[in-house]
Amino acid sequence: MSNALPWLVIGQGAIGSLMAIRLAEQGLPVQLKLRQEAPAKTSTTLTCGDKSVRLPTTRSVTQACWIFAAVKAYDVAPLLRELHQSPAFRSSTLVLSYNGMLNDEATLLRPHDLHWVTTHGAYRELDRVVHAGHGQSWLGTQQAGLAQPQELCKQLAQALPPLTWDANIATRRWHKLAVNCLINPFTVVHHCRNGELLQQVSAAQWQQVAEEIVALAAVRGIELEAARLIDHARQVASATAANRSSMLQDYRLGRTTEISYLNGFIASASAEAGLTAPANAALAQQVLELSRDRDLR
Ligand code: PAF
Repeated sequence: MSNALPWLVIGQGAIGSLMAIRLAEQGLPVQLKLRQEAPAKTSTTLTCGDKSVRLPTTRSVTQACWIFAAVKAYDVAPLLRELHQSPAFRSSTLVLSYNGMLNDEATLLRPHDLHWVTTHGAYRELDRVVHAGHGQSWLGTQQAGLAQPQELCKQLAQALPPLTWDANIATRRWHKLAVNCLINPFTVVHHCRNGELLQQVSAAQWQQVAEEIVALAAVRGIELEAARLIDHARQVASATAANRSSMLQDYRLGRTTEISYLNGFIASASAEAGLTAPANAALAQQVLELSRDRDLR
């Protein structure tokens, strides 16, 4: 354990809270980072199943640490700008998990920062976290091919298994991005649960959205296949048939959706690369308009 650092967990949504509880249950030092505007309190109690843990809180990075941040896509850039202002961040390592992609990831993230991709499902009811779907996770560095941080990986794997090291996490992230682009906006447009998409969305619609993603990924050196992406989306939609996607939940609760980092990202990054992505652009526009109409009601 010689090179181990204490954990700082950022993002108190379901996944961040679950990870904080699981790390603390391993006897590891864990602090929760509060938002700057959050009311002052020195600790928070979180519960999962029959276990409760009381975790100290902080507003900033005051010491070198391992940071686990599971946040909404639109919170990533402001969070990174805030972290970069703290001198202790220089000797800290960031593990980041969020849906979608940002155009300026390469400038915001350092090469050794890590992406954590997961299929675990969880939700929060006040201070109680429900680990609803046991999945698996992958971890890899922003810059492909860097060495695996052994102790950090071991601790994350013990906290929430199984975890696989992925030296090329970018391809896995693109796969997840594609599945989210194929499922989430359609659940808002059709206002339906994931499983109903299998009847609501035509094969041609999914094909066009997937082909545009494949074309952009290719420009970025990532090889994907439209048929595989669609198969994967179909499997996820049937495995989570009764669920409302995170985007539909955000839409129904009047929150900002992540559309600009999913289909919106595909549309804008394609335009920058000299490609067109009309199906993704139209979906992004539709979700933004539906959200605007909802806010005006
Ligand atoms: O964002 C979500 O809701 C999930 O990632 C997914 C895979 C679409 C399942 O609901």
